[in-house]
Amino acid sequence: MPHITVKPFDTACLKKGKYGKLQGTEVLFKAKDSFSSDELIAIKHENESFLLHLKKPLEEKPSSNTWLLKYDKVTRPLKVNLLKQAIADVSTGLNLDVLQSNITIHDTKVALSNKYEKSIEDFVDIEFPFESVAIEVGFGSGKHLLYQAQKNPERLFIGIEIHTPSAAQVLKQIQILDLKNIWVVNYDARLLLEMIPSNLCHQIFVHFPVPWDKKPQRRVISASFLEESMRVLAKGGRLELRTDSYKYFWYSMETFLGETVTKTAVEVRKNEALEVTSKYEARWLRQEKDIYDVYVTSIKKSESRRLDFNFSFGDIVYTKEILDKISYQAKIFDGFFIHFERLFQIDNDAILIKLAFGSFDRPEHKYIYLDKSTAYYFNTSPVKTMTNYKTHLKIMEYLNV
Ligand SMILES: C[S@@+](CC[C@H](N)C(=O)[O-])C[C@H]1O[C@@H](n2cnc3c(N)ncnc32)[C@H](O)[C@@H]1O
Repeated sequence: MPHITVKPFDTACLKKGKYGKLQGTEVLFKAKDSFSSDELIAIKHENESFLLHLKKPLEEKPSSNTWLLKYDKVTRPLKVNLLKQAIADVSTGLNLDVLQSNITIHDTKVALSNKYEKSIEDFVDIEFPFESVAIEVGFGSGKHLLYQAQKNPERLFIGIEIHTPSAAQVLKQIQILDLKNIWVVNYDARLLLEMIPSNLCHQIFVHFPVPWDKKPQRRVISASFLEESMRVLAKGGRLELRTDSYKYFWYSMETFLGETVTKTAVEVRKNEALEVTSKYEARWLRQEKDIYDVYVTSIKKSESRRLDFNFSFGDIVYTKEILDKISYQAKIFDGFFIHFERLFQIDNDAILIKLAFGSFDRPEHKYIYLDKSTAYYFNTSPVKTMTNYKTHLKIMEYLNV
């Protein structure tokens, strides 16, 4: 991921405004971490907003007297070139003393088209102009996704991948192969699924999910994921899990046969050869590991899903009392939590709060911007789920002082 290391400089010279030869990078504000000397720089570039992170050495370790300017994980855009350009524009605009850089901007490389990249907001009123729809969760290198899309041009494939470089790589492949029937969404599939209309899909592939033996709350398969998958699948549609982990296989079986979904059809296969072998699968095959497939078929039509939750903050604006009201310990409620993680001071009249919240197995990570006249989620709103909405109302209670 793009970054540069620079000699320390006076950040007071970093003002709001446009930077770069083409004035394409706009600095919206900068925000100073209340717990360290790190700063965030809010950028707008080609209609996308994101944060850059200026990381400074800890005060007790001033020996390494260089600063790092890099991406912020929560708001990172899919197009790496945007990040590179923003870092380069800020650095040349301020005439920074660059000590090390991994930024070369490849204008000649395939520019990523927006057409096949979708954001969670797009799903609020998106149309699906295809005969049928399939979803692949965690497509990694995309081998299976690309193969399926080439083989079934009349079917739309929605690939959901949480790892940004993998999503960007596959987006490039889609352009190179000139495929018109894949959408890539760089988000947590467990959340995105809740934005998909009921009874839409024919298949949901989950191939070789990370088993997360030590952090089971991070697993893709869970009772609520099963429930959502069955809602999203049309009657007769299938959730297709493929795993090399015996433990994960049994965990999934327990989930699929558990109480959440009362009626399903579950089918198990062992060492079934598929038409395409993914990178992970090839590794397990070389090691002669067993591979398990579990197919769960949806056997009824589901009710449609409401998506009209409002994530605005109403009359809430920044007041100094908010600083006293916020505590940084996670707060647990019935079915959801709120964890205010960090506070960034923009100036005397504005702050940025970093927080994690929502359901325990599908948390959201966001920033909230507040000044004297407005408050909003920077840079995108949470996924429109009932749990997120309940959490949002609770967050408003904390900020309403
Ligand atoms: C072990 S890899 C398997 C990749 C691919 N399916 C294959 O068979 O080669 C698991 C993938 O799932 C992605 N992933 C993990 N949790 C996810 C989530 N909650 N939403 C979307 N993708 C996720 C990871 O980033 C990774 O690319």
